[in-house]
Amino acid sequence: MSALSTASAQRLLRLWDQQQTAYVAHRENRFTAMLDVLRLHFDTAELHVLDLACGPGAISQRVLTALPRATVTAVDYDPLLLRIAQKPSTLSPYGQRLSILI
Ligand SMILES: C[S@@+](CC[C@H](N)C(=O)[O-])C[C@H]1O[C@@H](n2cnc3c(N)ncnc32)[C@H](O)[C@@H]1O
Repeated sequence: MSALSTASAQRLLRLWDQQQTAYVAHRENRFTAMLDVLRLHFDTAELHVLDLACGPGAISQRVLTALPRATVTAVDYDPLLLRIAQKPSTLSPYGQRLSILI
């Protein structure tokens, strides 16, 4: 299997977001609502989120960005999408806060 470049992984994640936004009504607003619920009901410093069916990591990325002390485990069964999520520089700013289960 050929290597996936950082630029390609980032581009594919952007394209995924565009495609899903066309497909899922109010997608970004739904993510905002999810994050608001987490903030309202949990101590986000202690929070560990399980991102089931994570795809290329769109929700994981938003959780890790919005909740700087939360951690995430991301799971999917699509090896291609997981390669995008796993590509270090796609989500690497989050370091040990993100685990991807393949
Ligand atoms: C519509 S995408 C959503 C991806 C991501 N959560 C997002 O919002 O961008 C649905 C995802 O569910 C995954 N999926 C579906 N059935 C699954 C299963 N049984 N186990 C793991 N992942 C699954 C697919 O591979 C796909 O990545």
